[in-house]
Amino acid sequence: MKNHLLAALMACASAAFVANTAHAADIKVGLLLPKSGPYAALGKEIEDGFNMALEEGGKSEDFKLVTEDSEAKPQVGVAKARKLVLQDEVDAMVGIVSSAVLGAVRDFVDGSKVPLVVANAGNDEATGKNCSRYITRVSFSNAQINRPMGEWMARIGVKKVYTLAPDYAAGHQMIDAFAESFKAAGGEIVGSEYTPFGKTQDFGPYLTKAKAASPDAIYVFYAGKEAITFVKQYDSFGLKKDIPLYGSGFLTSPLYVAAEGPAAIGVTTALHYVPTINTPENKAFVAAFKAKFDRAPSEFAVQGYDAGRVLVEAVKAGATDRASITEQLSKVSYSGPRGPLTIDPATNNVIQNIYVYETVADGDGLTQKMIGTIGLVRDPANGCTLK
Ligand code: PHB
Repeated sequence: MKNHLLAALMACASAAFVANTAHAADIKVGLLLPKSGPYAALGKEIEDGFNMALEEGGKSEDFKLVTEDSEAKPQVGVAKARKLVLQDEVDAMVGIVSSAVLGAVRDFVDGSKVPLVVANAGNDEATGKNCSRYITRVSFSNAQINRPMGEWMARIGVKKVYTLAPDYAAGHQMIDAFAESFKAAGGEIVGSEYTPFGKTQDFGPYLTKAKAASPDAIYVFYAGKEAITFVKQYDSFGLKKDIPLYGSGFLTSPLYVAAEGPAAIGVTTALHYVPTINTPENKAFVAAFKAKFDRAPSEFAVQGYDAGRVLVEAVKAGATDRASITEQLSKVSYSGPRGPLTIDPATNNVIQNIYVYETVADGDGLTQKMIGTIGLVRDPANGCTLK
């Protein structure tokens, strides 16, 4: 009799266990990130931030992750996106670092109606003329980071600027946005050059030409391995002491600024996140990230973190599949490590602050000294007709 009771109790207990775990791994997410190539370190950092958000939200077991390497190459990105959607049947995709990859996968994402949370790629068109209700961006748009810098540099008295960037979508869009607002504020672009993406080892010839144009300042976009090479060569070729270097803040990202070393000191740039943001939310985030990974978080970590957080919020709000996740994502708004974060219902791009910072020495290392905040930067719809 006793044994029967015990068996019955055990059956009940295991039924309850099954019921409790019925939601485990219900949401399948495809992470599409570069694991190789010039942006490999960025992909790893985004993934770390993403996993941290799932753990923090107590939702790790609700998500099953499938990870694919985009290599930051458009054709590879498209093939991997198709694999994630058609073969793995993911409920959502997260990631994409390169604007060129985002441009290449846009039609497939839109057509397959799988929500994509963009955790880096700034391609303006993905939340502009080629926007899609299935594409939600928690990172930034290329124009959003660079447009404020054009106005800001003109205001502090910089008159003539020479620009440099890699020759692909992000390089062109970042420089176009900077140049447009800089010229509108009275500045002059005295020269501009695009370097082969991922292939340029020696910036010497480009720096020689830039110097010959006698600008007041040089403004650039470089990221990942290219940023490290560029910042070091700018210093070692002797330009830094004569011509101040400005750019979008990926140039001196906390992710790789230590590899740049003293060459990065004095470079002034702008980003939507730096670890020195002085708010309780950010201090708590930085402490938690450091405790887990033994390093300060970069903008890429926060982009991954917020991509995870918006998915956790969507699931907590009852989303269970592609359609309901899509629905919930456009309603996101909270204050996080970077400050206020709102998804603009008109474009599905994030509305956020942009911070101007200077890289300065801090003991043996480097830190980000905040020198300006441009509040709640929102992109124009640029032909997007979501709302
Ligand atoms: C991009 O291609 O959109 C891109 C890549 C790396 C960055 C920022 C933007 O750090």
